[in-house]
Amino acid sequence: MVAAVVAEGLVRRYGPVPALDGLDLTIERGGVCALLGPNGAGKTTAIRVLATLTVPDAGRATVLGHDVVREAGLVRRSIGLAGQHAAVDDDLTGRENLRILGRMHHLGRRGAARRADELLERFELADAADRLVKTWSGGMRRRLDLIASVVVAPPVLFLDEPTTGLDPRSRTAIWATVGELVTAGSTVLLTTQYLEEADRLADDVVVIDGGRVVATGSPDALKASIGVRVEVVVAARSDLAGAAAALASWTGIEPEVDEIGLRVRLVVVGANVALPEVVRRLDAAGVTALDVGVRRPTLDEVFLSLTGNTRAAEGRAA
Ligand SMILES: Nc1ncnc2c1ncn2[C@@H]1O[C@H](COP(=O)(O)OP(=O)(O)OP(=O)(O)O)[C@@H](O)[C@H]1O
Ligand SMILES: [Mg+2]
Repeated sequence: MVAAVVAEGLVRRYGPVPALDGLDLTIERGGVCALLGPNGAGKTTAIRVLATLTVPDAGRATVLGHDVVREAGLVRRSIGLAGQHAAVDDDLTGRENLRILGRMHHLGRRGAARRADELLERFELADAADRLVKTWSGGMRRRLDLIASVVVAPPVLFLDEPTTGLDPRSRTAIWATVGELVTAGSTVLLTTQYLEEADRLADDVVVIDGGRVVATGSPDALKASIGVRVEVVVAARSDLAGAAAALASWTGIEPEVDEIGLRVRLVVVGANVALPEVVRRLDAAGVTALDVGVRRPTLDEVFLSLTGNTRAAEGRAA
């Protein structure tokens, strides 16, 4: 089956530093793919190229097998897009906006009205639905923008930071809607600053930095790639050095020692660290541990470890 999205060597320049610098990407059909990256990484530019809003300077991309430049019309017919720039009309009410979109998508008068009501209800916009959108708050408009992109489930949906700046309830409603679209067969590519969101929603995560892909994989695979974090809390300050030495001699990694929290921490990459083994080593060193934890890193830690260097380099260049 043809992939939902394929990008090969995409380049898009705005100034001396390219926004996309040879971006390669393959997104299979079905499921949610999250595009993660620091500010300026090229996430919005990538979405704009894939959604036919920006033409790349080099490279090529297809959506459902259609070339985003040569077959832009076909691409547009198979995608939905929600981003910062709302596709809704401020001089209409929320309900009117959605009904018009439903009719444009051939839902018929009744179908369009029903779909509008259902979406307004779910996103807690029913009370405001008959007021002009220009009187709505920023968060309400953002929700309407997202709803507008899913009046009819598109085969491929691009969401550029769909939940940024929204309250937790709205965020949860958006997550639920994304889940339903995927169940109904859509492929969703979203960008997000919230790693929790990627962790929770995405089957695959693509980390980009400086306009290139720096890592891909499931959230779990990415976490595993930076290893496990071992954390030991000791009973007394006098145990800190012993605990640190025991862990260092075992793993070959010098742990970070927190004198105030009476904590010793280290990250072990690419090894299977078992909790009982940690406890045994501490016992053998005569250390009294109050708490021993072996846990996977958060996606935040993965993200920082993958993008930290480029960021530091950017800082120096500036
Ligand atoms: N229209 C434009 N004109 C000039 N430069 C642009 C334009 N659009 C993007 N850029 C530049 O391209 C780079 C990538 O921008 P982009 O908006 O794609 O990043 P992003 O990953 O979406 O960032 P953010 O997390 O802040 O949304 C940035 O350096 C940005 O300044
Ligand atoms: Mg952006």
